[in-house]
Amino acid sequence: MTMTNGLRTYERSLALFDEAGELIPGGSQTNSKRPTAFAYGAYPIYLESASGCRVRDIDGNEFIDLVSGLGPISLGYAYPAVDEAIRTQLPKGILSGLLSPLEVDVARLVTELVPCAEAVRFFKGGGEATAAAARVARRFTGREVILNCGYRGWPDTWAAAANDGGVPKALGDAIQTFAFNDREGLERLVLAHPGQVAAIAIDVQVTPPEPGYLAWLRDLAHEIGALLIFDEIVTGFRLANGGAQEYFGVTPDLAVFAKGIANGMPLAVVAGQAEVMAAMTEAAISITYGGEALSLAAAKAVLEIYRDEPVVEMLRARGRQLRDGLTRAAAETGLPFVVDGFDPMTAMRFEGLEPEVSTDAWSFLLQEMAQRGVLMRRGGLNFVSYSHGATDIEEIAAAAGEVFAELAPLLAAGTVRGRLRVRETPTAFRSFS
Ligand SMILES: Cc1ncc(COP(=O)(O)O)c(C=O)c1O
Repeated sequence: MTMTNGLRTYERSLALFDEAGELIPGGSQTNSKRPTAFAYGAYPIYLESASGCRVRDIDGNEFIDLVSGLGPISLGYAYPAVDEAIRTQLPKGILSGLLSPLEVDVARLVTELVPCAEAVRFFKGGGEATAAAARVARRFTGREVILNCGYRGWPDTWAAAANDGGVPKALGDAIQTFAFNDREGLERLVLAHPGQVAAIAIDVQVTPPEPGYLAWLRDLAHEIGALLIFDEIVTGFRLANGGAQEYFGVTPDLAVFAKGIANGMPLAVVAGQAEVMAAMTEAAISITYGGEALSLAAAKAVLEIYRDEPVVEMLRARGRQLRDGLTRAAAETGLPFVVDGFDPMTAMRFEGLEPEVSTDAWSFLLQEMAQRGVLMRRGGLNFVSYSHGATDIEEIAAAAGEVFAELAPLLAAGTVRGRLRVRETPTAFRSFS
C-alpha cells in the first residue's frame, strides 16, 4: 500500500489514466467506470488483481469491493470452480469452425433455471443482446414500435429514444419511452400506436413494481398482440436464479441476461418461447463469437453452482446485512443516507440534499471509504457477491460508521467540499448500471 501522511495514494493509477486520456476517448470503455464516476484523484483507477470480494490496485492498495464489475461478479473474483472450468477449456480451444458442445450444455442449464426459456441464443454484450431481442420481437409480430422503460444499452435501437447524436432521427418513432409503474402513461402510448406495438420492454432496478404491475404489463402486451420483454441483465441470477420473472412470478415472452451468468466472462443470453426465438434465424441474427468456449465453460460452471448451492439466498442475506449495517450507521450520526432496492442489489442515496451538496457528499463518502479500504459506487447499484462473508460486511459497515460520523458535521456546516481531495467534481452524474 502506498501512503503519504497516512493517506492512501493512487499515483500510478493517476499517471496511467493521464496516458489513457490521450489514447482512449473518455479514458475507459464503460461510462460508469470512468474515474469521474467515483472520486477521481482520491480513489483507485487501475486493477492489479482481484480475489474473492477483494481487489488490489496498481499502487498496491487493497480493498473490499462492492462494485463487482458493475454486477457481473456474482460469485466472487477468481472464483476457483469457474477459473478451473476456464483453464480446463483453454487447451481444448477458444473458437473454431465447428460448434462447441458447451453451447448445448449452457442452453440446457438456462432452460432449466429460467421460467421463460424454452430456447436460447448467446451473445457477448448486454446491449447487443437487447437489440437482438428487439429485432426478434419486430420480426415475430411484423410490427415496428417498441415501448420501453429503462436503459437497454447503446445500440441505435434504444438510443434513438433520447438520441444524444449519431442515431438516425427516423428510428426515433419506433421506440417510445414510458415511466416505471405509470400505467396511464403506458396506456396513452398504446392508444397512440394502434396495431403497431411489437413489444413492451422493461427491467426492474431499484423501485419495486407496484402490486400486480408486471402481470398487468404482460396482459396488456398480449391484449394488443405484442410481446413482453424483460431485460434481466441486472436481475438475472441475482434476484432469483430465474431473475425477476421468477421472483415476481410473471413470465415474459423474451428475456435478456448478461451480468450474472458467467462471473465476468463476456456472455449474454436472449431466452424465450421457442416459437418466438425461431424468428432469430429468420431475422438473420448471427455473430462470430456466440459460441466462444471460454465464456461458455465459465457459464456452465456458474449455472451449476447456482443450481446446486444457495447462492441467491446468500446474496440476499449479505445484502440485507449491508443494508442494515449502513442504515444503522447513518441513523447513529443523523445522516440522511437511505439504502433502497432489493437486498442482492442495493441502491444508496442521500435524501433531501441539494444536488451539488449530494454530489460532494458522495465524493467524500467514496474518498473516505476508499481510504478505509472499501470500494463502492456513487449511488446506482452496489453488488454483494457469494464471496462476501459476514465479517467483510461488518468491516464495510464499521468503515461507513466512521465516515458518516465525519461527514455529518461537515454537511451541517456546509464545508464538505473543502475536505475533498478529488481532482474533479462531477457536475452532472448520469448513472448506468
Ligand atoms: C438493465 C441493463 N440493460 C442493458 C445494459 C447494457 O449492457 P452492456 O453494457 O453489456 O451492453 C445494462 C448495462 O449496465 C443494463 O444494466
